[in-house]
Formats: sequence, C-alpha cells, structure tokens
Amino acid sequence: MGTVLVVDDIAGNCRLLESLLAPDGHTVRTARDGGEAVRAVRESPPDLVLMDVMMPGVDGFDACRAIKDAPESRLIPVVLVTSLTDTASRIRGIEAGADDFVSKPFNATELRARVRSLLRIKRYTDDLDNAESVIVSLALTIEARDRTTDGHCHRLAQYASALGRTLGLGEDDVAALESGGYLHDVGKVGIPDAVLLKPGPLTPQEYDLMKQHTLIGDRLCGELRLLRKVRPIVRHHHERLDGSGYPDQLRGDAIPLLAQVMGIADVFDALTTKRPYKAPFPVAQAVEELREEAARGWRRADLVAAFIDQVTSAPGRPLPPVARLSRAAAAQPVVT
Ligand SMILES: [Fe+2]
Repeated sequence: MGTVLVVDDIAGNCRLLESLLAPDGHTVRTARDGGEAVRAVRESPPDLVLMDVMMPGVDGFDACRAIKDAPESRLIPVVLVTSLTDTASRIRGIEAGADDFVSKPFNATELRARVRSLLRIKRYTDDLDNAESVIVSLALTIEARDRTTDGHCHRLAQYASALGRTLGLGEDDVAALESGGYLHDVGKVGIPDAVLLKPGPLTPQEYDLMKQHTLIGDRLCGELRLLRKVRPIVRHHHERLDGSGYPDQLRGDAIPLLAQVMGIADVFDALTTKRPYKAPFPVAQAVEELREEAARGWRRADLVAAFIDQVTSAPGRPLPPVARLSRAAAAQPVVT
C-alpha cells in the first residue's frame, strides 16, 4: 500500500485508475497536467506516479524528466500511461527516466500487480534512506557517551541552521546544517573513552588521535545520497582559513561554507558550556574569543559578525558584561 499520484487531463481516466487502485488500500491523489504533477510531487512526494503521456502544456515526458532530475524525487517510480505502442515513444520515455509503461486500454490485473511491485521497490529505497536515521542515532549515542556535551548536537543544529537562514542559503543547505549539527562529531565513535572522556588537557598524541574523528566521520557518511551535503561539514568543521586547521589544512574559500558555519557554532557552544577542563564562559567572553579568531585569520569576519548578531539578539538571552578571557582560559585549547 502507498500513495499513488495519478496524472491525466481527462477526469474520467483519473476516476477509472482510482477505482482500480483504491480497493487495494492505496491512497490515490490526482493532478490534471504535467506542471501540476511536478508541483504536487515537490510539495508532498507520493510513493508512485502514474502519468498519462499526451497532455496539454507540460506533457508526461517532460514532467517525468523534471521529477527524475530533482534529487529529492528521483527515486519515486514513474509509470507512463500511454496508448502509444511505437518504439520511439518507449525510448523517449526511458530517456526521460520512466521506470515502467502501461498501455491503454488497461489490463486491471496487470496494472495492479505492477503498482504493487514498484511500491515494494520504493520501500526498499526508503529503507536505504533510513540509513541516515541510523547514523543520526549513532551520533546521539556518542553524545550520550560524553555526558559533558549534553545537548551540544541539538544546539549546534539550531545555531547553524539559523545562521544559514540569515545568510540566505537555500533550503537544502539549511537542512544540511541542521543534520550536520547532529552528525558533525559522529566520528568520535572511533575515539577511545580514555581520550574522549579525559578530564584534563590532552597530550599532543591524544590530540592527534582526537583529530581523527573528522576522517572517521567522513568515512561513516560514505556515499549515502542524503548525506552528500553533510559529509563536507563532518570532514572540514575544524579547518581554519589560514590553513592551521585539520584534517586537510584547507585555506580560505577552499573550506566549504557550510563547514565554516558549523565551525563557528561549534566553538561558540564549546566555550559557553561546561567541559571537564573548564567552566562555561559567559556569552560575552565567547563572542570576544570568536572575534579574536576572526582577527587571527582563522574565521571569516562577516560570518562571525552574523553569528554574534544572532546569538546576542536572541530574546531572553541577555548579554553579560564583556570581560577578557583569563590568561589561563585563553591558553587552554578548546576541544570540540
Ligand atoms: Fe569536531
């Protein structure tokens, strides 16, 4: 059972298909032409599209191509319904990305079997996407392991996605920043407790080991389709503009923008929360530290300014009096 979008400019055909599919438990929605179908898929993705080819305006071939070209809908099966049986039309349909064809007049039994089969395949691909949920659960498990960072991932997701919106980034990028908040440190799963939970400062060797979390996380994200925008955040959120960061010592614009945004949010949250090796800094001190990092050439001053604006103008969050970091606090590297 699933949601089927039936697309046909002839209302009687829509009703016929609905009467064939609804008794099998499918939810049937309808659209009257290709343009309406593409919009309907974008707004509320169905599990299957059953689409007439010959329609006024945007025809079935073009609508199919638009659905298959969009990353978020390319795995939705599209079946072209046609009375055209010539090879040229089939080839056109295949080139547009159609998954299957149904010829008019319908053989009801065959149509219902094909719909069932394609919906089963769609469920498998949905399960693959659910692999992303598994990785998010893994990230939250790591956070739970390190009690001192309680809520860090959730706050980062909020800070980073809010800054992404302020910067006018697209919805895909904002969504990646939200996921990246949860996933940025997923690679810490590979860091031993003795290092991850060490109450005192890390030795240089331990710090080198801790840095590996960016590479481990990158590998964990693998080739998952939904994580392709999150993966650079996971790998590069500790890079610095002057090349003194890790793991790749990227410089300037070579550091992905989303990773730069996450890096700023990450440092701010690490500074303003309690860690085994330091008390929480007031917001004003964290703001000052971020400004210093920008002045040092580690972070983009415009991004830092936008972030500071965001955290200091949040209602209900008064800005404490500005105080310089103590010498001891400033000397202690913040491990995020
Ligand atoms: Fe990190």
